[in-house]
Amino acid sequence: MNIQSLRLHSFRCYDQVILRPPEGVTVLVGENGAGKTNLLEAVHLCCVGRSHRTGNDKEMIKTGQDSAAVQLTVSRADGTHDVGVRLYAMERRKKLIYINGKTAPRIGELFGHATAVMFSPEDLKTVKDGPEYRRHLMDMLLSQRQRSYFYALQSYMTALKHRNAILKSDDLRQLPVWSEELAKAAVPIVRLRRTLAGELDVLSREHYRYIGGRETETLSVAYTGQLENSADPYTDMLRGLKAAEADELRRQTTLFGPHRDDLRLTLAGQEMRSFASQGQVRTAALSLKLSSLDILEKDQGEPPILLLDDVLSELDPERRRRLLGRISRVQTLLTCTDLSDLTGAKPACILRVEKGSITE
Ligand SMILES: Nc1ncnc2c1ncn2[C@@H]1O[C@H](COP(=O)(O)OP(=O)(O)OP(=O)(O)O)[C@@H](O)[C@H]1O
Ligand SMILES: [Mg+2]
Repeated sequence: MNIQSLRLHSFRCYDQVILRPPEGVTVLVGENGAGKTNLLEAVHLCCVGRSHRTGNDKEMIKTGQDSAAVQLTVSRADGTHDVGVRLYAMERRKKLIYINGKTAPRIGELFGHATAVMFSPEDLKTVKDGPEYRRHLMDMLLSQRQRSYFYALQSYMTALKHRNAILKSDDLRQLPVWSEELAKAAVPIVRLRRTLAGELDVLSREHYRYIGGRETETLSVAYTGQLENSADPYTDMLRGLKAAEADELRRQTTLFGPHRDDLRLTLAGQEMRSFASQGQVRTAALSLKLSSLDILEKDQGEPPILLLDDVLSELDPERRRRLLGRISRVQTLLTCTDLSDLTGAKPACILRVEKGSITE
């Protein structure tokens, strides 16, 4: 998959700009605050309908403007796909999604047109911080893999919200209905996450070994959760909810289900969250993203777009060289503040980014 064009209108620090990156690696170079990450964020927004770094869409609208628009055209084996997002500053106005020129009624329809994998400094949290970051990794990847996952997740989150509200109230009549909804939506979530974790385990171990360059450390990824081994997640979920009910009523929240899932990341058998060094965390996070790329490439028969934000300055020269060697087949937008970070690699294109403008 290749980006033909990326158009921004009143997005972040940009008034109006068009980017037409060639195949291969495009380097975006510029000082801190120049607007490099903003460009990757715009691509991410078009692929999954949200920013990778903020939950508040309005932050992406250029200060003082009423709306912002981003449009991404990609060429794929099956033809051209055109996706766009328009954001409005007005409090109650929802964002609009465009697919091939028509507005789409649901954000989920965006998935499967343009696909991207982003690696940014925020991703170190996937290894170091709480389980929500690892669930987020699985959710983003699985949603891009199949739209039905995204819809199952939406149903699950809606049911969870209702069920938690009931647990906080005095009227428990609707509790079984929402338990049932929750259990139904949990089935694909558990099954698809479990399969994914198995794939991530095999692929990221290999990436870690290659980029890390050390035979002795083995990275492992394992799916953990209350339904991790369940052969019948629906029945087991209902049973788990029933068993947890007394506790749930006391704590006024749902205590059983895949919203508490996690991925257990270990290096040479040790929990990465507590034991890994900064370099190990970085290599593991990167390995998970490169595995995500492989998974989407295998599914879709062509690689997605790769977005690498600030990755080079954090790696030693040998690891940089290995990474750049690995991604040459994939159209990549890569940001850096200094071209010397490229350590001799020859990108297809270098673009200079300065306060809201881009020059070759
Ligand atoms: N809504 C907005 N309206 C106008 N300008 C904005 C908006 N949001 C962010 N900016 C500007 O965009 C710039 C930050 O852009 P970005 O994060 O892309 O920088 P960067 O080139 O990635 O920098 P770094 O190298 O530090 O990561 C800042 O100058 C900020 O003031
Ligand atoms: Mg940046």
